[in-house]
Amino acid sequence: MTLEFEELKKLAKLLQSKTGIYLDDEKLKRYKKRIEEIIGKSGIENFHSYYHQIRFIKNQELLQELIEAVTVNETYFWREHEEFEILVNEILPKFITPNDLKRVRILVLPSSSGEEVYSIMIAISEKKEVYERLHIEIVGADIDSNMIQKAKKGIYSKRSVEKLPKEYIEKYFTKIGDFYQIDRNLIRYANFVQANLFDRSLKMRLGEFDIVFSRNMLIYFDDQTKQKAFEKFHKMIKPFGYLFLGHADANGIDKRKFKPIKRGYNVFMKS
Ligand SMILES: C[S@@+](CC[C@H](N)C(=O)[O-])C[C@H]1O[C@@H](n2cnc3c(N)ncnc32)[C@H](O)[C@@H]1O
Repeated sequence: MTLEFEELKKLAKLLQSKTGIYLDDEKLKRYKKRIEEIIGKSGIENFHSYYHQIRFIKNQELLQELIEAVTVNETYFWREHEEFEILVNEILPKFITPNDLKRVRILVLPSSSGEEVYSIMIAISEKKEVYERLHIEIVGADIDSNMIQKAKKGIYSKRSVEKLPKEYIEKYFTKIGDFYQIDRNLIRYANFVQANLFDRSLKMRLGEFDIVFSRNMLIYFDDQTKQKAFEKFHKMIKPFGYLFLGHADANGIDKRKFKPIKRGYNVFMKS
């Protein structure tokens, strides 16, 4: 199937309203062939019916395929790891109380294929004082169901683990051929769910969190959608909870509802 540029633009607008993902004209040109291919494979005969299926019939499978065709899931272990150090050395100790094991809920959205969630778990496991004195629950969420399946399996390529200190690779992975299987204990403690940040029922489904990591997703949104995402995080974070964003994510957002806590980093406290 060949699509007119106007049709592509209409589809992009629909995708943005459902997921926040913004495709400018240049990206649309780049993804044109891929989108035409997935529509062709769906067996639907014309653009109008395809659009109708996603917009009005709310066909999740078609939407999922479209998301997968145009999203960048790029991630790796220990990415921007200074923030994991801020988490374990400066933020988590604030939650420790003298007499009980306080529960701390961490959300990683987007988690993509799980590398960030497991990196955080490794950083926490390495910090005994924190690990033993808090009850930490960690949830990874991503709109792309294939990535969630991959995260649950926990099997990674060499490229994915190469930024991790060697001692951690030895301690937390088993090598299987060319691949690296993450420790079963970490898999057991991580919860991964497929979820769209803009789902109305997200907070009801996942609850509130003390700490949210949302790195390298807002860069794919336009400023208005970024702001919407920011407000959403504000609602999902408990009072005096924390938000970690990626280096380029926070540009163009009114961040007054949060207080920056560290110079040079996008780490904020809900005030
Ligand atoms: C580049 S990855 C970032 C992964 C990881 N946080 C990191 O920094 O390495 C961006 C991810 O955002 C996800 N994503 C995009 N829009 C989303 C939405 N509305 N809700 C949840 N996840 C979304 C994509 O599926 C993709 O896996």
